Amino acid sequence: MTTRNRKLEEDSEVWTHNSWDDVAWSPELASSADAVISAQLAVSPHLANPDAVLEVVQTPASQNWHKFYENHSRWFFKDRKWLSSEFPELFVADTVLEVGCGAGNTVFPLARENPTVMIHACDFAPSAVKLVREFREFDEQRMHVFQHDLSSPDQFEDISDNSIDVVVSIFVLSALDPAKLPIALEKIWRVLKPGGMLLFRDYGKYDMTQLRFKANRLIRPDLYVRGDGTAVHYFTEEEMVVLAAQTGFEMVSNVTDRRLLVNRHRKLTMYRIWVQSKLRKPIN
Ligand SMILES: C[S@@+](CC[C@H](N)C(=O)[O-])C[C@H]1O[C@@H](n2cnc3c(N)ncnc32)[C@H](O)[C@@H]1O
Repeated sequence: MTTRNRKLEEDSEVWTHNSWDDVAWSPELASSADAVISAQLAVSPHLANPDAVLEVVQTPASQNWHKFYENHSRWFFKDRKWLSSEFPELFVADTVLEVGCGAGNTVFPLARENPTVMIHACDFAPSAVKLVREFREFDEQRMHVFQHDLSSPDQFEDISDNSIDVVVSIFVLSALDPAKLPIALEKIWRVLKPGGMLLFRDYGKYDMTQLRFKANRLIRPDLYVRGDGTAVHYFTEEEMVVLAAQTGFEMVSNVTDRRLLVNRHRKLTMYRIWVQSKLRKPIN
C-alpha cells in the first residue's frame, strides 16, 4: 500500500494492471474463501490437540523470530512509506511506543520525519533489538529500544503509565496467540495518555496467505504456524471491536483494506487483506 489510487471501475479492466486498491468484496468471494478454510479445518491434525498451540507457538516464539532476524538483513521489511498517509497521528506525537518494532522499519522513517519525537520501541527477539540499536541512524537520546514480550504480564520497561501519545502495532499482534491479546492490549492501554491512540494494522481474514496455508499449518481457527515456526493470526473488524471494548478503548476507525493482485500472464487474481484500526483511550 503506497498511494491507494488505482481503483477498478469496470470488471473488464482487471487484466490491465498488476494491482487494484480498495477493491470490493462480495458474498461469493467470501463463500469461496470460506470453502478453502473449511477444507483446512476438516483435515488439520492440530485442532484436536489444544496443547499444540502452546508447544508450537508460545515457548519457542522469540527464538524463531530471533533466528529470523539473524538470517535477514534490516531491509527484509521495507520502510513503511505509507505511514504518513495512514497514521498521520505519529508525526504530530511527542512520545511514541512501537510494539514489535522488528528491524526498525517504522522507527527510522518516523524519527526522520518527526525530529522531536521520543520513540520507545520493543521487540521480544534480541536480534531485532540489536539490529535497531546498531543501525547508523540509532540515537539513544531519543530512542529507547528494549526487549519485551507482549504476551507476558510484565509491564513495559521504563515507561510510566499515562505517558505515551501513540502506540503503533504493525503486523505484530497477529504473531501472538489470540488468547494473549487482552494481556497485550491492557499493557498498551496503561501506558497511553488519556486521549492517546493505538494505531493497528495487521493481516485480515481471507488474506491470500491464509488461503494458501496447508491444513497441517492450522492450529486453531484463523491461527497458523509458518514453516519457520512463527505464528500468524488473521483478524476481523468484529474481533477488533470486541478487543477494544474489553480493554476500554473507544473505536475511532476500523476498516478492512483489500487489494487485488493480478497475475496477468496466468490470468489469476489474489486478494491481500488487512485490518486497520485506531483505538483511543478515553479522556475520563
Ligand atoms: C512481521 S514482524 C513486523 C515488524 C515491524 N512491526 C514491521 O512492521 O516491520 C513481527 C514482529 O513482531 C515481533 N513479535 C512477535 N511476537 C512478539 C511478542 N510476543 N512480543 C514482542 N514482539 C513480538 C517479532 O519479533 C517481529 O519483529
